[in-house]
Amino acid sequence: MTEEPGADQSTDLPNDLMERVVNLCKRRGFIFPSAEIYGGFRSTYDYGPLGVLLLRNVKDAWWRAMVQCRDDVVGLDAAILSAPKIWEASGHLSNFTDPLVDCRSCHERWRADKIDGTCPNCGSHDLTEARAFNLMFKTFAGPVEEDATVAYLRPETAQGMFVNFMNVLQTTRKKPPFGIAQVGKSFRNEITPQNFVFRTREFEQMEMEYFVPPDEAQKWFEYWLDERFRWYLDLGIPPEKLRLRHHDPDELSHYSAGTADVEFLFPWGWDELEGIANRTDFDLLAHSAASGEKLEYFDQATSERYVPYVIEPAAGATRTMMAFLLAAYDEDEVGGEKRSVLRLDPRLAPYQVAVLPLSKKDTLEPLTREVLGLLQPICMCDLDVTQSIGKRYRRQDEVGTPYCVTIDFESIEDRAVTVRERDTTDQVRLPIDGLVAEIRSRLGR
Ligand code: GAP
Repeated sequence: MTEEPGADQSTDLPNDLMERVVNLCKRRGFIFPSAEIYGGFRSTYDYGPLGVLLLRNVKDAWWRAMVQCRDDVVGLDAAILSAPKIWEASGHLSNFTDPLVDCRSCHERWRADKIDGTCPNCGSHDLTEARAFNLMFKTFAGPVEEDATVAYLRPETAQGMFVNFMNVLQTTRKKPPFGIAQVGKSFRNEITPQNFVFRTREFEQMEMEYFVPPDEAQKWFEYWLDERFRWYLDLGIPPEKLRLRHHDPDELSHYSAGTADVEFLFPWGWDELEGIANRTDFDLLAHSAASGEKLEYFDQATSERYVPYVIEPAAGATRTMMAFLLAAYDEDEVGGEKRSVLRLDPRLAPYQVAVLPLSKKDTLEPLTREVLGLLQPICMCDLDVTQSIGKRYRRQDEVGTPYCVTIDFESIEDRAVTVRERDTTDQVRLPIDGLVAEIRSRLGR
């Protein structure tokens, strides 16, 4: 009854892929421009009902790989609002800057290293000398705005892990090599936020600091390059759209002895998803010197005391979500009609299952509720009752829902439903009694 013709080959992706994905994000409730009713607010974005699910799934997949499935990494959630002393010691107050230039013709401001001496707005070459612009957001904690109350919104989650190094060591009895992982918001006053959620002033990071004996740093650096690269492939980024790029020595951050980026082929070219760095003992030594607290490991077996080196895989959650969307977007034909489909891995898809009663009539309501009640505890479900079944399939394809479960009038008699798969559009009829096991097995849960 719900039959539809199978899907034909994917068509070539459009040149305006970025525009289509941005439109899809707005139209289907993934990402909205922030404060839109007031005309928007400076490249900030709100994550809508589907975006919040996709972003959460990206972060959960990272947490699962980096914390849950390992016994050498523990989690942390440090404060966003942070003490100036942290940023003074870490070097961010003096070094976390971008070169800022003003155009003397149109008075726009630009990042000097991104514009090649020409103002992108008016084409003028009459630019001021570059000056260092600190990217940290400064604010005041408490009702008095004076130097004693200055606080910063963290520009990276990493420092929370360094300043809690001894707390974690003492409370978990971990020993190097071990890691501390954190997912959360970071803030940078970017001079030119751009490319949708690729570069924004408020974004989410997924970072892990892996503390190792200094003479093992290179080995673990290479280990994490492999692990992190594989993570993106495993979740469906095609290999031809992913590469590792090692930094030249003059590109390295002030703390790094070696960095490589995982890059994705965005519509505008290769760009960074994640940086994996050998931060040496820079941060622990810096915080130790500034605070007067010893931040080191004492190995009771060898009676050796040392400051661990740190290997840091640092990824952007919001940026990675955008890469997954771009990589998943596809167009093909079903029964001679074009459809757009997000071929998201089921672990990332906002909804794993859509429950679709064929008719809005009350007769199907009890069974629909029963099926939802069975599936909701194991995965995120959407209930969609409006318009034709074909239109509903297209709507679910467009947001990446891997399975649709259709309930028709026969279902009341035979207690069976139709399960339809997103990519192939194949359908099978299954007894309701076996539905949970089948969906679990297809989702690998
Ligand atoms: N703790 C090291 C660190 O923060 P980073 O390369 O500056 O390193 C790590 O940031 C990741 O955070 C980047 O690879 C990127 O995915 C994400 N990121 C950085 N700035 C961002 C921004 N303005 N908007 C969105 N994501 C950003």
